[in-house]
Amino acid sequence: MFHPLSLPLVLLVSIRAFACGQAAPQTLQLQSRTVPSTATLKRRGLNPIDIPLENWFKGTDLQWFGNITVGTPPQTLTVIFDTGSSLLALPSTLCDDGSCDHQTKFDPKASSTYVDGGTVQTEFFSTGAGVDPVIAFQGTSNYLYQLRSGFDDISIAGFTAPKSRFWLITSQGEGWANDPWDGIMGLSPRPQNVFSALVDQGLPAVMGFYLTPKAVGNAEMTFGGIDRTKFSGDLIYAPLPAFTTNSWALNSPQFFVNGKTTNALKAMRRVVFDTGTSNIVFTSDIANRLYALISPDIKPYDPLPGAYGIACDKIDSIQAVLDFTFTAEDGTPFNLTIPSKELNVGPFADDPTMCQTLINAVEEVPALIGASLLKHYYSVWDIENQRLGFAPILS
Ligand SMILES: *[C@@H]1O[C@H](CO)[C@@H](O)[C@H](O)[C@H]1NC(C)=O
Ligand SMILES: *[C@@H]1O[C@H](CO)[C@@H](O)[C@H](O)[C@H]1NC(C)=O
Repeated sequence: MFHPLSLPLVLLVSIRAFACGQAAPQTLQLQSRTVPSTATLKRRGLNPIDIPLENWFKGTDLQWFGNITVGTPPQTLTVIFDTGSSLLALPSTLCDDGSCDHQTKFDPKASSTYVDGGTVQTEFFSTGAGVDPVIAFQGTSNYLYQLRSGFDDISIAGFTAPKSRFWLITSQGEGWANDPWDGIMGLSPRPQNVFSALVDQGLPAVMGFYLTPKAVGNAEMTFGGIDRTKFSGDLIYAPLPAFTTNSWALNSPQFFVNGKTTNALKAMRRVVFDTGTSNIVFTSDIANRLYALISPDIKPYDPLPGAYGIACDKIDSIQAVLDFTFTAEDGTPFNLTIPSKELNVGPFADDPTMCQTLINAVEEVPALIGASLLKHYYSVWDIENQRLGFAPILS
């Protein structure tokens, strides 16, 4: 189902379609012959970089983004740091059809260090983002980017990757119009952007995410290290399954709802952790089995395929503690838990008496666990050691 080479995840999934008609997604390793890569720099140690994050998705605490600067002189844009994808894609002045007009656009003509890469491609995304998730698929996705490759100096929290590869958005689907950030920085286990360039400069290949609930604030991510002031106790690490190195996946032997499980929820399942997904996404089979243990009153919400909901005046009385079991490096099981208050994602835009619930159903993508879990843990995304680490956040 989930094919690691053809389905780099996004705010779910991106499926690449090359303008030239080729299908092979691996061809993203491009242009290193025309532009000197950062590998020519002397390897040296870099200290961890803390990046403050802002929190906003229609008023919820389910999406976080931060600043990067591009070019000479530097132009500032905001990006969502998305562990479900790999590329850096930024709106640009090449986007002249109006589709990027609500965002800040990078202007390559205003940068003396910009080099055109000359490659174009289309990238499709689907997403379980925020209130009113739009669940989209390849072919019909309104979350798509038309991209053109380029290189420029890119800085993040004061560190610069010279001549770093990125993609300029030349047109985009209307699905992005709701989003408060400008572009996406992909941070899959095989990132191909400024992060990998910083790793080439000597930064350790590890990231820490502190995606906080709104009441806690001060969300932050760390490139190249872990911010130990943000959690208490020890991190529990779980190894990535060996053959999925382009997604942050873990195997789970069972799921629980309010302490209960069923035979069907006791099968080994792969779930992908995604900072770019707000809620959680399973096939409808699993979603229905989880909802069956939560409340028979939660039903698919017909106007929005993949979404579920219940009358807002009923939702607060429903308990929904979700435990997902994983296996730590030493073989012992541990749970990651979504507290009951995450069940209510908020009222639907087209019917405010109905409230959306946490679990979305999508058939074609792998199971995804997003912000509603991640904001209750400090998470460590360790590329070097191919593992994910978790510890409850300090709040
Ligand atoms: C991003 O930069 C702007 C100024 O350019 C600043 O006001 C804002 O606080 C910054 N946001 C973050 C999350 O650092
Ligand atoms: C995980 O959660 C379930 C349900 O609450 C519980 O029965 C189980 O003992 C927990 N497992 C661990 C390893 O804590």
